[in-house]
Amino acid sequence: MYWDAAVETLSAPQLEELQLQRLRAILRQAQQSPFYRQRLAEAGLNSDNLRSLGDLRRLPFTTKDDLRSRGLDMLTVPLTEMVRLHASSGTTGQATVIYYTRQDIATWADLVARSMYMTGVRPGDVFQNMMGYGLFTGGLGFHYGAERLGALTIPAGAGNSKRQVQLMRQFGTTCIHIIPSYALYLLSTFGEAGVDPLELPLRIAFVGAEPHSEDMRRRIEAAYGLKAYNSYGLSEMNGPGVAFECPEQNGMHVWEDAFLLEVIDPKSLKPVEPGVVGELVFTNLNRQGMPLLRYRTRDLASYDDTPCPCGRACKRLSRIQGRTDDMIILKGVNIFPLQIERVLMGMPEVHTNYLVELKRENFNDLMLVKVEVRESFFHEDLRYLTGLRKRVTEALKSELLVTPVVELVEPGTLPTTEGKAVRIVDYRNKG
Ligand code: COA
Ligand code: AMP
Ligand code: ZN
Repeated sequence: MYWDAAVETLSAPQLEELQLQRLRAILRQAQQSPFYRQRLAEAGLNSDNLRSLGDLRRLPFTTKDDLRSRGLDMLTVPLTEMVRLHASSGTTGQATVIYYTRQDIATWADLVARSMYMTGVRPGDVFQNMMGYGLFTGGLGFHYGAERLGALTIPAGAGNSKRQVQLMRQFGTTCIHIIPSYALYLLSTFGEAGVDPLELPLRIAFVGAEPHSEDMRRRIEAAYGLKAYNSYGLSEMNGPGVAFECPEQNGMHVWEDAFLLEVIDPKSLKPVEPGVVGELVFTNLNRQGMPLLRYRTRDLASYDDTPCPCGRACKRLSRIQGRTDDMIILKGVNIFPLQIERVLMGMPEVHTNYLVELKRENFNDLMLVKVEVRESFFHEDLRYLTGLRKRVTEALKSELLVTPVVELVEPGTLPTTEGKAVRIVDYRNKG
């Protein structure tokens, strides 16, 4: 039942004691980085004078902007000791990069293995990972965790729907990791292939990377005949394996031996009570090469600190309720409106107005980008406009990593709003 019983069955006070020890050690480690050495000195905080977990609040938050501008200054070991990096999308100076030492990769894999084991995955299971490999953490993060656990791991990657179905049949897949909207979309491919997912030996799915509802989970469970567990993580905290549902399916246990959780009111920045939605803030308690202290995730959720029947004392998070910034998630890919703005405004043919609509058609997420073209270009011939549309599509795809549907329109056709223009409208029904 437990992957790491010694840690997973700690009582709340024992867990807190472990956190305090680890926090002291991580402060010592963080002092090796120019960024945190300065921050800790300014706050007058160090491993010797830290008396309680609450003392950490003397330190300012770390933000995505800090990571963007000072990321390399957060390393606590020379770059030559790092063995992997992952980066969020974006080439316009927006990407954030996380570096991992060999030990960090091992710690991360162990956390993912622990998460998977908690839901019932065992050696002998066949695990098909349908997340994006490459710079996304969902691919390699789960991959290493599944191998660590001892499951037969199929690195299927995202996309290629027919092949996903074929792999499941051929190898008798029992567990999958999949983006929830794609899980529902994939049912149409099953239909086309004449395969009934209920006849496959599937029993467990890990769903995450995008917000989804209880109703969506139940639909996935019914259609595939399995149990679906919500999985939460973010690249800045390794990737997947931060918080995970146990068999109770009633909130995601945060692995508090590895991540110190704070939930704050995003306005007052003060801690909120259990059950109140606030922004999640995490501190790495056992990352070696690039520990982040008080990282503001921008994700909104509430927590529950009451005992869980599964015996784990770690707090449980609600579903992610939204964001405190304007980031959107499409097909499991994070997109900032500024990325779209920069690509479009970098093209001389594009006028100043555009509109992005996000839609879900048959569980296929779709980004429609309506772009006003400058008068002089709009009157070019059809071949020119077709070429332009292709170029805009390619430029957006290369920046965002998802393919938009681009529509070129005449200047003055899109609605203009007073003040700050509403450029992105999300019509997706999260259910
Ligand atoms: N996950 C996996 N595959 C997906 C998907 C999703 N969320 N959404 C669509 N796809 C499939 C499509 O069905 C299509 O396959 P098919 O034609 O065989 O059915 C294929 O991916 C390409 O779809 P398309 O819409 O043309 O591609 P795109 O360029 O817009 O997006 C993806 C490309 C899907 C590969 C990209 O969005 C991706 O990698 N998503 C996963 C991201 C991820 O793993 N996130 C986890 C973060 S930790
Ligand atoms: P990335 O940095 O690419 O790993 O993306 C991490 C972000 O994806 C998180 O900050 C969340 O906004 C979102 N996310 C990850 N897992 C979930 C989940 N289970 N439910 C809702 N959103 C999630
Ligand atoms: Zn539990």
